[in-house]
Amino acid sequence: MSAKKKQGGLAGIVAGKTAICTVGDGHSLRYCGYDIYELAKHASFEEVAFLLLYGELPKISDLETFKKNLFSNRILSKEMKEILKLVPKDSHPMDVMRTGVSLLGNLSPEKPDFSNQDFVALQILGASPSILLYWHAYHYQNKELDFESSESVLECSTAKFFLETLHQRQVPQIWVDAMNVSLILYAEHEFNASTFTSRTIASTLSDLHSSIVGGICALKGPLHGGANEAAMELLSGLPNVESVLPAMQKKLDNKEKIMGFGHRVYVTNDPRNIIIKEWSKKLSNYNADNKNELVKSGLLTHDVLESSKDLYDKSEVVERFMWESKKLFPNLDFYSASTYHFMGIPTDYFTPIFIMSRETGWLGHIFEQRADNKLIRPNAEYIGSGDREFVAMSSR
Ligand code: COA
Repeated sequence: MSAKKKQGGLAGIVAGKTAICTVGDGHSLRYCGYDIYELAKHASFEEVAFLLLYGELPKISDLETFKKNLFSNRILSKEMKEILKLVPKDSHPMDVMRTGVSLLGNLSPEKPDFSNQDFVALQILGASPSILLYWHAYHYQNKELDFESSESVLECSTAKFFLETLHQRQVPQIWVDAMNVSLILYAEHEFNASTFTSRTIASTLSDLHSSIVGGICALKGPLHGGANEAAMELLSGLPNVESVLPAMQKKLDNKEKIMGFGHRVYVTNDPRNIIIKEWSKKLSNYNADNKNELVKSGLLTHDVLESSKDLYDKSEVVERFMWESKKLFPNLDFYSASTYHFMGIPTDYFTPIFIMSRETGWLGHIFEQRADNKLIRPNAEYIGSGDREFVAMSSR
């Protein structure tokens, strides 16, 4: 590969300044100065959302107000519900999210002077899980969710709200904790493709909804957010632990990319992987120890339980193989796949969950961009034809 090709995709280019997040030396991750390990251990997703939006960890009273405002946006308007019913059942859930957030912009546009940006930000963040959940319940559970009539809708954490509404029943606390950590890990990652897209749109002085929809579109691809779904598909295609090595070797021989491995910035490991891998193992053990109750309560189907049996072990064999053969390490997406599967989450909802979390980072970056805006408009190196005379249609 030529040196020029290696430098493609703006690799190694500093494209702007931010005070929100740093991947530092390529081995660590900090949000507004706080180490990701500390945040994952001690914080709630809502605290981290506040931090990313406003730059400081909230005091108790700030957090209470923030949560109240955030959670009240879980209640969807009649118009939103009607449109979600019309979004086809076989749509990809990422497209449902894109449509839903875009529709919020039709129903309740941001003011042209951005004076209601805080309100709009919480509306997008609060409504996003409900958009997916409402559409899911209508098309797959034959239910029209009535968020208004449930008190817990206005009280429970994002992690608990998502899992319990999806499953329509209580879920184990360990699942809620795992989801909380996952939302924190996915929340922010400097100038990744979707964040840079959101910032670029914001730099034209476009509105918040447009900037966030742009982020969703960039996140969808398997080289970015879509990698967690692709990693699950890879793992599901490996029938047992014994099949892993020959199947993986075949993929590498065919020059296939293995989704959930490698990173543009990290060189030897992704610090988020260490955290999510632990949670994947914890959930694997928890589910194995509690399989009868999980099936009896309707939280997991026999199929999910069966496919979960050696999922963690298969993942570890893939990880070892990738390191030994290519010196590639798992990124956050790889063990997020098994973690979500262990909680009975359908695979095509993995990337939408990423949206619900990363919207916090996108919003923080859009606010930061707006605070000191300069249109993002780089130059291109021209590699096309030299000057040519126009040729009339009849002479071509
Ligand atoms: N599987 C197999 N080979 C991989 C690989 C993967 N996941 N990631 C990188 N490589 C190989 C490439 O084939 C390439 O090999 P070559 O030099 O022989 O052509 C080399 O490593 C460099 O890869 P490249 O894609 O150019 O690096 P990048 O910095 O542009 O890529 C990613 C970063 C994340 C896009 C890339 O690692 C990838 O596609 N990973 C899978 C998708 C994924 O997990 N995305 C989520 C990221 S958080």
